[in-house]
Amino acid sequence: MKKFADISEYYTGDLAVHEENEWIKVGHKHFLDFVNPIIEAYEIMKVVEYGCATGHVAFGMPPHIDYVGVDRNNWFLEKARERCQERIFMNCDIRDTKFTGYDLSMAWGFIKHFGLHEIDEIIDIVISSARYSVLGMQFLAHPADLDDGTAYHHSWISEERFAGVIDRAGYKETSRQLFSTFMHPLNIHAYDCAVLLERK
Ligand SMILES: C[S@@+](CC[C@H](N)C(=O)[O-])C[C@H]1O[C@@H](n2cnc3c(N)ncnc32)[C@H](O)[C@@H]1O
Repeated sequence: MKKFADISEYYTGDLAVHEENEWIKVGHKHFLDFVNPIIEAYEIMKVVEYGCATGHVAFGMPPHIDYVGVDRNNWFLEKARERCQERIFMNCDIRDTKFTGYDLSMAWGFIKHFGLHEIDEIIDIVISSARYSVLGMQFLAHPADLDDGTAYHHSWISEERFAGVIDRAGYKETSRQLFSTFMHPLNIHAYDCAVLLERK
């Protein structure tokens, strides 16, 4: 059972923290430094971002792309629309609305917020909406069999599990950038990275 049943509620009230937190800002920069060269190299035009929050990633992307941001927190979306007036932001729950036909789908700081019971399905929804996907992932290095999501609002999955999900969805990993490794106080050894996936 996941402690935080609805992560959007968890974040509401936390907007100032989200906007000013240095750790979050560094994360956006890392992610954009990885994704923007991919957009250029693959001549990506149509992009969907899941869990776009207040539009930080959207703001740092090339202006010419056809972008849609998806989130279920209206408070965050209002801020995103102020920040990027030329972009489209939609209030949807990823579990209820199907987006298809994009060149690139992205999710940064998003997948880890779902419960372990649904995380495979969420990854599948995100990646199968586009030919290429860039996912921010937090992988569990140790302990490998931890059933988390109960005491902390992040779920950690193993590399093996992730590889199985993307293979079954018909995708392969073609590039990866490691951002950091860390030991969480709950004795979880994990690492943050972005991965590029491509339809086989
Ligand atoms: C940690 S924040 C994402 C950070 C964001 N990508 C950024 O760059 O700042 C997680 C976001 O996912 C959104 N979210 C959570 N569950 C969702 C769902 N089922 N459908 C759509 N958005 C969801 C939350 O509202 C929140 O904005």
